[in-house]
Amino acid sequence: MKSEIWAIGGGKGGTGKSIITTTLGIYLAKQGKKVSLIDADLGGANLHSFLRIKKPKKSLTDFFEKKSPLKEIIIKTGVPNLQLIVGDINTFNPTSIKYTQKLKFFRHIISINSEFILIDLGAGTHLNTIDSFLLADKKIVVTVPEITSIENLYNFIKKALFRKINRILRDHQLKDVARNAWKNRNVNEIKDIKTFLYYLKKSSNQIKNLIDKELENFKIDIILNQVRNPNDIEIGFSIKSLLIKYLGIDVNFSGYIKYIDSFWDYYNGSQTHTSNENVLCTPLLNKDTHGLVNNLVEDKQLNLFNP
Ligand SMILES: Nc1ncnc2c1ncn2[C@@H]1O[C@H](COP(=O)(O)OP(=O)(O)OP(=O)(O)O)[C@@H](O)[C@H]1O
Ligand SMILES: [Mg+2]
Repeated sequence: MKSEIWAIGGGKGGTGKSIITTTLGIYLAKQGKKVSLIDADLGGANLHSFLRIKKPKKSLTDFFEKKSPLKEIIIKTGVPNLQLIVGDINTFNPTSIKYTQKLKFFRHIISINSEFILIDLGAGTHLNTIDSFLLADKKIVVTVPEITSIENLYNFIKKALFRKINRILRDHQLKDVARNAWKNRNVNEIKDIKTFLYYLKKSSNQIKNLIDKELENFKIDIILNQVRNPNDIEIGFSIKSLLIKYLGIDVNFSGYIKYIDSFWDYYNGSQTHTSNENVLCTPLLNKDTHGLVNNLVEDKQLNLFNP
């Protein structure tokens, strides 16, 4: 079975990447899809906590330190159809992962037998995070309607795009062209990534075709989280326009999630749920997220008239 890989990233910390990954996973699993969640936040794993798994017996530490295959460390969750690879929860220095380990990690991920594989990424723009993002078929970014989050999101996507273009040029022995163009950016009047790409594309037809093909496949899905009022939703559309204008990439504004006041009451148990409901839900699993997940699955945009 060919799995569909979704990565959930976005640069800024605390925007809701992990809780959204958990919510998407539970929603899809409840629809009868076989789903695997991977906690690839190598510095701060917490998907297991959002799934109420207290002391996981296996984790990515076993993969990186004991060389256990990924499929041997997958654990069941309380949700039928939903399995989890717990992130590194023991002593482990995320920056110490070797390049070969990273490639092995990616090889193992794509061989997991699931309909959906959802990868939760950490904050920041570490190359391990960017490369995991680039591995995905669906590249989802989460932001909140605040300027600092949007700035980080922009830098995250820019870095990912830059890495992807550099990689493809390197694979065709054309890396020097990009390096020299960037080095001489003042002379060449390159002021941003869009003019950089424009300059590269002008240099040869081969490069133009390569870049055009990469840009065609580089699509971003935006989720706007912690929306507190209807005006915030406009920000999602503005981010989409900004990314198209300055990076020249294809973007979907897939949907938004409201700010939930009682978020922690839900986990701290002061809300009344039966034990079963408790495991099967997250505070974000409500009618808004239904529309959002359907848009992601069907590759559609948020439609305010038919959310
Ligand atoms: N829709 C929401 N309503 C209310 N609170 C929210 C919402 N989404 C996220 N939060 C709050 O933000 C916190 C951080 O969420 P989460 O851990 O998913 O973010 P993250 O982006 O994964 O963070 P990190 O970058 O540190 O991994 C949650 O613990 C919760 O308190
Ligand atoms: Mg997180």
